[in-house]
Amino acid sequence: MAEHRIALVTGGTGFVGSNLIRRLVSEGWETHVIVRQGSDLSMFSGVEQAIQVHVHDGSTEQLIEIVKLASPQVVFHLASLFLAQHTPQDVEPLIHSNLLFSTQLVEAMSVNGVRHLINTGTSWQHYENKDYSPVCLYAATKQAFEAVLTYYTGVSSLTAISLKLSDTYGPNDPRAKLFTLLRTTTRTGETLLMSPGEQMIDLVYIDDVLDAYLLGAERLLQGKVIQHEIYAVTSGKPIKLRDLVESYGQIINQSLAVEWGARAYRPREIMLPWNKGQVVPGWAPKVALAAGIARMEQNTRLPEVATNTGARKTHAED
Ligand SMILES: NC(=O)c1ccc[n+]([C@@H]2O[C@H](COP(=O)([O-])OP(=O)(O)OC[C@H]3O[C@@H](n4cnc5c(N)ncnc54)[C@H](OP(=O)(O)O)[C@@H]3O)[C@@H](O)[C@H]2O)c1
Repeated sequence: MAEHRIALVTGGTGFVGSNLIRRLVSEGWETHVIVRQGSDLSMFSGVEQAIQVHVHDGSTEQLIEIVKLASPQVVFHLASLFLAQHTPQDVEPLIHSNLLFSTQLVEAMSVNGVRHLINTGTSWQHYENKDYSPVCLYAATKQAFEAVLTYYTGVSSLTAISLKLSDTYGPNDPRAKLFTLLRTTTRTGETLLMSPGEQMIDLVYIDDVLDAYLLGAERLLQGKVIQHEIYAVTSGKPIKLRDLVESYGQIINQSLAVEWGARAYRPREIMLPWNKGQVVPGWAPKVALAAGIARMEQNTRLPEVATNTGARKTHAED
């Protein structure tokens, strides 16, 4: 009989997290999810009966109780506030979601003797391919939590893997990212105002991203990890944004109204993605970009959109 596996997932209402939950459930994991008061649970549609949802009240004490109740073999930590740029009002939410909540989580694991953590970082910790140079405050908070993990994995039996994701894509992505915006413009007739588009983009299909999480979990469970390992989740084949948009138009067989150069590059725009990370041993992306885009389009449910002929602004990584 297959071993009974228990997972605890944070960030389960997000794009990657909701897909991870489906994958865990389909692979027979007992799956617990931590949400907060006010989280929109519609991303659990279809699996709500198969998962156990715990609402965190923000306190360390209650998080300790949640971890005790779930008693997971592996915690998959994906919760995060992503902001490409911040304002003074964003400082507290960024620290709260990315550092305080994360630290509360490992403290709760440590108190309960839960030993395996998959943490989620970002390639944006490596501006200009440096060992550490955060693109923005969000990336700096990810690095700060890695430093916290060095403490916990150093003083306890906690072992952790941090997966540094590059860009991810797949069906039904609720985030207002490039493909969603391009898809919308084909239906509304809007023109997308873009930067000059010379930056290289590193896109990994969601199923490949999930493979990295599952492989990482296996590695932890097999006791192969000493303290903390860090891996990249990368296609290894970045593509210029302009070429990406052209390919997308060809695959969906639509002409796309894009005005290149209508916007400036963002401060600290990533022109060349980080390419110095090692991938999880045994992992390689399986879904080529063209196949992934086709699969995404086939499986994306189109929302209702209002038609107009205005212009919409976007940015590749927003
Ligand atoms: N997707 C990418 O291309 C990419 C690239 C690099 C790194 N990453 C990292 O990958 C992870 C998943 O990304 P994603 O794009 O799937 O995220 P997402 O769609 O933006 O979702 C973020 C999730 O984090 C949760 N969250 C935020 N603050 C929280 C808090 N204080 N307490 C509990 N939950 C909280 C949100 O819950 P609510 O529903 O309550 O808001 C939501 O479930 C994140 O750690 C992100 O930084 C993603």
